Amino acid sequence: MSRSLRHEFDAVIIGSGGAGLYAALEASRVPGANRTAVISKLLPIRSHTGAAQGGIGAALGNIEEDKPEWHAFDTVKGGDYLVDQKAAAILADDAVQAVYDLENRGLPFSRTPEGKIDQRRFGGHTRNFGEAPVRRACYAADRTGHMILQTLYQQCIKNEVSFFDEFHLVDVLIEGRKCTGVVALELATGDLHVFASKAVLIATGGFGRMFRTTSNAYANTGDGPAVLARRGVPLQDMEFFQFHPTGIRGMGILITEGVRGEGGILRNRHGERFMEQYTPTLLDLAPRDMIARAILTEIRAGRGLLGDPTQDDYVHLDATHLGRDVLDKKLPDISDFCRTYLSLDPAEKPIPVQPTAHYGMGGIGTDLEGRVVADGQGGLYDGLYAAGECACVSVHGANRLGTNSLVDLVVFGRRAGRHMSEFVNQTDSSAVSADASAWAQELMSGLSKQQGDEQAEKIRMSMKAIMMDAVGIYRRGDEMAEAVTTLQGLRRATEQVHVGDTSKAYNTDLLELLELGNLLDLAIVTAACANDRKESRGAHAREDFPDRDDDNYLKHTLGWLEGDSVRLGARGVDLSIWEPKPRQY
Ligand code: FUM
Repeated sequence: MSRSLRHEFDAVIIGSGGAGLYAALEASRVPGANRTAVISKLLPIRSHTGAAQGGIGAALGNIEEDKPEWHAFDTVKGGDYLVDQKAAAILADDAVQAVYDLENRGLPFSRTPEGKIDQRRFGGHTRNFGEAPVRRACYAADRTGHMILQTLYQQCIKNEVSFFDEFHLVDVLIEGRKCTGVVALELATGDLHVFASKAVLIATGGFGRMFRTTSNAYANTGDGPAVLARRGVPLQDMEFFQFHPTGIRGMGILITEGVRGEGGILRNRHGERFMEQYTPTLLDLAPRDMIARAILTEIRAGRGLLGDPTQDDYVHLDATHLGRDVLDKKLPDISDFCRTYLSLDPAEKPIPVQPTAHYGMGGIGTDLEGRVVADGQGGLYDGLYAAGECACVSVHGANRLGTNSLVDLVVFGRRAGRHMSEFVNQTDSSAVSADASAWAQELMSGLSKQQGDEQAEKIRMSMKAIMMDAVGIYRRGDEMAEAVTTLQGLRRATEQVHVGDTSKAYNTDLLELLELGNLLDLAIVTAACANDRKESRGAHAREDFPDRDDDNYLKHTLGWLEGDSVRLGARGVDLSIWEPKPRQY
């Protein structure tokens, strides 16, 4: 039995990526919410925000004319009109100030010769409502996310935020619709800690590890949304998962879209710039869903580099014409990745790339202040917030534009942190019951007593293969229905995994089993929601329903995990600014 330790805070934030740190910074800045804690599975500066390489979008207009309204429109169109439009307007408006705030806090952006923040092109970002690509992505070489983490972490330390590093979220304490705290496992000791808190924000990042080929870090196992789903919180739009077009072949490691933003070109085995055939206006800077499908179409037609669609085929990302100087100055990390992982110099040879599972557009539904959605009628939880990739404030809709994840996490992490601080000012201390950790204690002791001959690694590999093959870039109803059944079987099989390691300190076998359960729960919800949406929209491309169907599916999906089944519901989309139109580029 683990020991259980208790703490009390005004605001507790789970996750130390950009959203969590920005929320903590805001919550700790305002008088009243001066007792703020960040609980993180990792050391904060190792969070996955650090992998967002290419830039943060903001209509600064430093290089060419730009307007937040154009940014908001691109976001709505890029998301295939499933975006909540007021949320997109806030995203684009607040992005400008957020970038200057980061600059003032010390973020070392790359500069123009005149000393302004430099900006590069990124997919789907255009001037004047789709006319041509615009330079909107502010960047710090290809280490933008990493620099955001460093900047925010330093500011949180200055504000005396308490950090609990290497703590894994096990439970969120919810009574009715009120959140009172969380229970977390201290990895170094195996102890369970109860954190009573007036307000809790979940910012645990993505869950791309459910796919075989992914750009996501090992830690991206969807702990926050999975724990909440088991507590009866609905998840929103989980069917929409983005494949980034350019992961390193066979590894999935991200090669930033910034390469194409600087002029890199995708080519097939004949050396053809194939995007000319698919999106003649934006070419290699079309939205990611379109480019990922174009790459797969080339491969299926035998125009991949191997010429064999049955093999693990790929295309080329050609950056050779950019010159060594541009690569060294503006894209140093990806140049290093190519040398390290491929023994290849991108100044001399094209980079072999394939689409890689990158970003979940869906997650924990929230309102514009980050408060967690409880139902399809506008109901909210009290004291429970979410922000960043694990959340769905619905600025990405069916497909996120590159750079908008960093914008999302700073804009909505900041808004949620501000709202939390107001909320805790008006709220009495949070009381949690004496047996608050009982459920978590039982879970942990149950897991460590499990007997059986199933292997976590085998279950994990099966999940990844199913998700990649049946719930990947192209999808079909029959395959997804079968996937749901198989995933449910895999979830049950996790109960037959024997944890051989009995130690308390850094029991990674136990941690990986918890994480696998989280991924499987989210995979079941993803596959069930995807099977239910009988249309194609954004990143959700159904071969059996190839058209967008606004009459029946212009709505957000809500999915409630009930045991290993999923109950489905819906929520309206905010279409208050632009009327939905077919998406052409
Ligand atoms: O391509 C990239 O640099 C990724 C950025 C993003 O996902 O926004």
